[in-house]
Amino acid sequence: MKIAVLGAKGLLGTALVPLLKSRGHEVLALDKEECDVTSLKALHEALAPFGPESIVLLAAYTAVDKAEEEPSKCFWINGYGAANVAFVAELLHSEAIYISSDYVFDGKKDGYYETDDTHNPLSVYGASKVFGENCFQKFTVVRTSWLYGTHGPDFVRTMIRLAKEGRDLKVVDDQIGAPTYAPHLALALSQIIEKKLRGIYHARAEGVMSWYEFAKLIFDKTEIHPRSLTPVPSKDYKTLAVRPLNSRLSNQSLISAGVALLPHIEKGLDEYLRQLAYEGVL
Ligand SMILES: NC(=O)c1ccc[n+]([C@@H]2O[C@H](COP(=O)([O-])OP(=O)(O)OC[C@H]3O[C@@H](n4cnc5c(N)ncnc54)[C@H](OP(=O)(O)O)[C@@H]3O)[C@@H](O)[C@H]2O)c1
Repeated sequence: MKIAVLGAKGLLGTALVPLLKSRGHEVLALDKEECDVTSLKALHEALAPFGPESIVLLAAYTAVDKAEEEPSKCFWINGYGAANVAFVAELLHSEAIYISSDYVFDGKKDGYYETDDTHNPLSVYGASKVFGENCFQKFTVVRTSWLYGTHGPDFVRTMIRLAKEGRDLKVVDDQIGAPTYAPHLALALSQIIEKKLRGIYHARAEGVMSWYEFAKLIFDKTEIHPRSLTPVPSKDYKTLAVRPLNSRLSNQSLISAGVALLPHIEKGLDEYLRQLAYEGVL
């Protein structure tokens, strides 16, 4: 297939582009310098000659806390940019996929979030992702959570760096979700693209845990420990953006669509730690 990936140099793009190529697809990989999604003209000029059968929108404003201070910029990219991409996809008769987030929910549900649960974002970033999702109603939305992997910086690299510096670490233990290894999500995405699925899907690693438990797992596996590691509730770890406490996304949509579930959190971490050892980070 001819697949255009926008935001190709980011965390997820770095995993997705080589995977799609290895599966025999012709990939047009673009990032901000080649094609700013907030410019309808730039988008059309970049995509029309290629004639994509699928457009994957990864380009996004992802600085969740900073978004509270610059909401217009966040909405400009995640909302208006998404509207542009959906419009161009329609013009070019292409499929289109928007990557969204657990942050579209308020985390107050007792149980796993299903794909049709009601949006109620707690942050500017979450609200901008709702806007983006709404632009893709005719196409495909894939919600994921807590991504790490590829080139970083990410939670895993940060924890290892802080531990090596001998820090005293406090990590929140009341936000529950699924830290998801980007190459595993890329594999699920490639199947969603190839099957030309439409609608809303949740794709995240199997299993759930808190950030504290994930940090502990990283330190236990690497045997690199900080001076101390203390679990703290979110109310004692203030951030500009409020995050949902329950980020558990149901994977039922993938099962129903016949897409292979992502491997377990621990498997993703093992694979990433092998890569970090190879890079000499460990
Ligand atoms: N990371 C997570 O934990 C997570 C969780 C759930 C959902 N998601 C969603 O998954 C998608 C991919 O996330 P990611 O972690 O790969 O993000 P990322 O690493 O921040 O990558 C996004 C890429 O888009 C580029 N970009 C920013 N503004 C652009 C614009 N106006 N036009 C074109 N490109 C632009 C960025 O360039 P610069 O870096 O130069 O700005 C960057 O290369 C996003 O939609 C994100 O909201 C991420």
